[in-house]
Amino acid sequence: MESDQVMPPDNRAVPLEALHFMPLSETFGAQVSGLDLSKTITESQKSALNQALVDHQVLLFRQQDLTEDQQIHFAQIFGPCRALWQNQDYPSANNLAHYLSNVDTEGQPIGRHPDPGSTHWHSDGSWSLQPSRATVLYGIRVPEGEGATHFANMYQIYEDLDRSVKDRFKGLQAEHNFELARATRQRRMPWQWSLSELNRESLVMQLKWWKSVLGRRFRDGAVYHPIVRPHPKTGRPTLYIGDHAWRIAGKFWPAGIKQMKEINSLQFKPTAIYTHKWQPGDLLIWDNGSVLHKVGPYNILNKVRIMRRCVVES
Ligand SMILES: [Fe+2]
Repeated sequence: MESDQVMPPDNRAVPLEALHFMPLSETFGAQVSGLDLSKTITESQKSALNQALVDHQVLLFRQQDLTEDQQIHFAQIFGPCRALWQNQDYPSANNLAHYLSNVDTEGQPIGRHPDPGSTHWHSDGSWSLQPSRATVLYGIRVPEGEGATHFANMYQIYEDLDRSVKDRFKGLQAEHNFELARATRQRRMPWQWSLSELNRESLVMQLKWWKSVLGRRFRDGAVYHPIVRPHPKTGRPTLYIGDHAWRIAGKFWPAGIKQMKEINSLQFKPTAIYTHKWQPGDLLIWDNGSVLHKVGPYNILNKVRIMRRCVVES
């Protein structure tokens, strides 16, 4: 949606009544106008934004011009920020932010997707015992008409399930693990190995890799979340699934993986989806407890997409 809003000189002059929330889709998401996020935000505005995130699940602010520090300050309105891995081709000054970019700091294409896992439906940080509350993503360079971010309203998706399916999901726990989810997707589990294609050397490598993956999993402990999870703030049930959920707990691994894959293959109704087509200067914040998200395709080699991301703890 286009916005021709004129930014006020100072947020402190903006009364709460002047904050405007325009729906982004039929069931969730709102575009917020009236605030310049590079400037001081008052305590009452912070409370209103926190409540708005709970109510709308996705908030969009357009035409923002933000430094790394200003984005981090904005994210901290919603909670402490998590330290993030760094993109070596495009490092940030502060580890509370990082860049998802398909070019390096000189503008040269790096020739690969900065985060291939983000092309699958997921909830950021679901692999941790205390999953992240929210993610703040800022569009610096965005390819026109490509690389949209899709959101799924998991309150609605749960509510729309048949009673029998809800009953089937009741009590199920999923194990969330970043590394094992990726290994499952890439068919790298030992029972997925094609022994006829492995020579002695590659078999040794696979075994070493598997040993290190298992070692980390047992050292760090497994992380389980219920499939039907009450939202931490509203208590409303959501379907808490996605790419990091790699198996249903309490079953022989291949059977648990198969069941999880079926659940993760649920088709979402279009009315439960919001697709955000980026403009430079867009800032989005979303509630990881009630939405899943994924990035759509774009031309990695010939287009430039530079996003800056912060993750808010629960
Ligand atoms: Fe993500």
